[in-house]
Amino acid sequence: MSPSTLITGIGELTTNDDELGQLGAGGPVALVLADGLVAWVGPAGAAPAADVAVDVAGRAVLPGWVDSHTHLVFAGDRTAEFGARMAGEPYRAGGIAVTVEATRAASDDELTATLRRHVAEAAAQGTTCLETKTGYGLTVADEARAARLAAAEVDEVTFLGAHLVPPGADADEYVELVCGPMLEAVAPYVRWADVFCETGAFDADQSRAVLTAAAKHGLGLRVHGNQLGTGPGVALAVELGAASVDHCTYLSDADVAALAGSDTVATLLPACDLSTRQPLPDARRLLDAGATVALASNCNPGSSYTSSMAFCVATAVLQMRMSVAEAVRAATWGGARALRRELGASAGSGDGGGAGGGDGAVGVLRPGARADVHVLDAPSVTHLAYRPGVPLTHAVWRAGLRLH
Ligand code: NIG
Repeated sequence: MSPSTLITGIGELTTNDDELGQLGAGGPVALVLADGLVAWVGPAGAAPAADVAVDVAGRAVLPGWVDSHTHLVFAGDRTAEFGARMAGEPYRAGGIAVTVEATRAASDDELTATLRRHVAEAAAQGTTCLETKTGYGLTVADEARAARLAAAEVDEVTFLGAHLVPPGADADEYVELVCGPMLEAVAPYVRWADVFCETGAFDADQSRAVLTAAAKHGLGLRVHGNQLGTGPGVALAVELGAASVDHCTYLSDADVAALAGSDTVATLLPACDLSTRQPLPDARRLLDAGATVALASNCNPGSSYTSSMAFCVATAVLQMRMSVAEAVRAATWGGARALRRELGASAGSGDGGGAGGGDGAVGVLRPGARADVHVLDAPSVTHLAYRPGVPLTHAVWRAGLRLH
């Protein structure tokens, strides 16, 4: 059992808990972490003792980032493709095939080493809960391998066999493979299924077939939608009760209204839009309509090779007209909501579970939540946007264990 930890001297505490709110204006606050969970939150002067005490000297504390969209089971490099894009070439779904070839050729040990390197890189920047996807295997064996390796390293794994029709394959035959033997093989390792519903990848009928088959396996649903143009992704995600639809770069009024009237989280990936020279998503329009918004890194070697949630938050504030509070909440609580973990981890079914108990919730700091804590080397979360590009992570705990 890990020692209990008392964190004192917190100058500003973002809890994301509706009752606790943001603490610190009335004097320093403390947190106690025990048995992997937050055990106590309150004024520093009233804090109970713990095995270890850490004084953060007036710094800001917030929940660890919840990065709800990454693709970390990969090998190879796409620097040349990035360079071509910066010289004016458009992003195309077909670039995925380059990573598929390299990933298939890599050993299990190589893929695991790459996964671990990126998980550690993210943790050192305050990310304490990570989702990652398959999708660079695209054969039954390679997708099952990706799911198995990912399940050993991250909190949440998503099956994305429907990422691209492999070059040379027949699209309808490939969709049948995804819906049948591939789903069967990955199901033991994953909680979620996703589909890239976009021109050049999968159309609405093919996407619906994959998602419907996945739901029959008890998997929660996610959709890559509306990344490269308006299309059916958002409508399909809402219709099927997906937990999130990710990208949302091009939205019609009907898409915004559908999201606002649903439980489907709009997960925005601003680093991807910058790296693919797309417009940034209209977060303001979504928030003002009442939709739930998450921010995620989309870390992958093709369209968004960054693990920095702080960069996403700064971009959301500086260029997408989100307030600091909205952006920080979207990168913590919003990600947790997109993974249906804001109330506590629960078994996956339907929309991925959802109404869990109080234990192990992420993206929040309240008694009973997982002790995932991010201390900034700054007095306030505003510095995340006020000092863009400056590494501000001072300390990180995940499930009560200090990582950084
Ligand atoms: O979310 N859009 C589809 N999938 C990834 C890109 C993967 C790639 O280009 O390798 C994304 O951007």
